[in-house]
Amino acid sequence: MQYSDKVMDHFANPRNVGEIEDAQGVGVVGNAKCGDIMKMYLQIDDNDVISDCKFKTFGCGAAIATSSMATELIKGRTVKEALALTNSAVVEALDGLPPVKIHCSVLAEEAVKAAIADYYKKIGREVDFPLESADERYEH
Ligand code: FES
Repeated sequence: MQYSDKVMDHFANPRNVGEIEDAQGVGVVGNAKCGDIMKMYLQIDDNDVISDCKFKTFGCGAAIATSSMATELIKGRTVKEALALTNSAVVEALDGLPPVKIHCSVLAEEAVKAAIADYYKKIGREVDFPLESADERYEH
């Protein structure tokens, strides 16, 4: 299995690892088959901009690399822009992943969406986007 330099870099030196106390949005997703779990924390300002985000991933190297890259891609973006982030965009930003590891990137997309859904619920906004679980979208 061949990993790109970017994947190895984000795996070895993940960005934005940790927790945000009193985060406006927190999302937890998991893949039942491999048992990997990803937790995403979002700090969102009054203009709906993600001013900070952190993650904790208990999972494989590809899951760590994709969650790290996902936080880099959504930081400073609006919630709407973050919602448009697909797992393919994360994979592309990492210069690709082996096909058997694509499902790990789905976890990153779902963690961002779950955290935004949590934020929407807290502020009384309707969750108007689908929340799928990574299990349903990709088989191991
Ligand atoms: Fe499960 Fe990577 S093997 S997320």
